[in-house]
Amino acid sequence: MKTRITELFGIEHPIIQGGMHYVGFAELAAAVSNAGGLGIVTGLTQPSAEDLAKEIARCREMTDKPFGVNITFLPMLKAADYPGYFQAIIDGGVKAVETAGNNPQEWMPLLKENGIKVIHKCTSVRHALKAQKIGCDAVSVDGFECGGHPGEDDIPNMILLPRAAEELEIPFVASGGMADGRSLVASLAMGADGINMGTRFIATQEAPVHDNVKKAIVEASELDTRLIMRPLRNTERVLANSAVDRLLEKEQRLGKELQFSDIIEEVAGVYPRIMTEGDMDAGAWSCVMVAGLIHDIPTCKDLLDRIMAQAEQLIRERLASFVAS
Ligand SMILES: Cc1cc2nc3c(=O)[nH]c(=O)nc-3n(C[C@H](O)[C@H](O)[C@H](O)COP(=O)(O)O)c2cc1C
Repeated sequence: MKTRITELFGIEHPIIQGGMHYVGFAELAAAVSNAGGLGIVTGLTQPSAEDLAKEIARCREMTDKPFGVNITFLPMLKAADYPGYFQAIIDGGVKAVETAGNNPQEWMPLLKENGIKVIHKCTSVRHALKAQKIGCDAVSVDGFECGGHPGEDDIPNMILLPRAAEELEIPFVASGGMADGRSLVASLAMGADGINMGTRFIATQEAPVHDNVKKAIVEASELDTRLIMRPLRNTERVLANSAVDRLLEKEQRLGKELQFSDIIEEVAGVYPRIMTEGDMDAGAWSCVMVAGLIHDIPTCKDLLDRIMAQAEQLIRERLASFVAS
């Protein structure tokens, strides 16, 4: 399938694997790229710029297809070494960067000088327009359904995607709640040029996370997630577990008095314990309603082939059958 996204990134299928903390290692990114999508290594999961350089080199050993690196701009106690991370990307010959958290304006001249395509992740049309204005090549439009941080506007993709299509000139991928060929076809119908998936890619053979994490996603229904940190305007959708129950109880009890320090035990530094050790009650981890559509743990290649075959069949048979020939 050819879209503006496949052309932009030089990939076979219009499917991107979004950056995911403690999931987006070289193994997953390479598997997605080898399957014809765009795999993304998660920059900030690597403790230093040198480690990111090694991870990029490892990914390159596993694939000769294009892959990207995610750089998430986060408010941190000790600022991350962003100049070092971007240098590692440039030196590693990576030609696609996914940015998130804050717009990448400051870094655009450096990225453009080095021929790097930038896709910025946005949860609103106004942020997507800003990304377009500062020269991003594409945006990932993340609706309220998305994993990670959905923002505070709560606009689901059924509204957000056609709104983005009304306003944007640059290509965009639909993100949040995407799982199969139906998601892809619906996104294309609403004006997107492809899809970005997070949660669906965690439940794959190659995702280098503990089996308990994959099993939890397959077993979860669309009713098993909760929204946390809303009072702190740092909303995240997570899988319900005992740590999340404890966190929500604190949110309710403290109301407007809630501080980040009150919930630090449930959210800070928990990803390695969950993703690597499989301790599923260690804290809050991002997992969204799309879990209700995830019933198996395929290889990335089987997943992408299945999505493309289903999308083609839907377009050629089901949709074509509704219009007069
Ligand atoms: C466990 C997990 C960790 C994530 N970590 C990041 C991150 O570090 N940076 C980022 O930009 N997005 C992050 N995301 C968001 C994904 O890249 C993607 O935009 C989102 O998962 C799409 O929604 P979906 O999960 O419904 O497919 C994360 C998502 C999940 C599920």
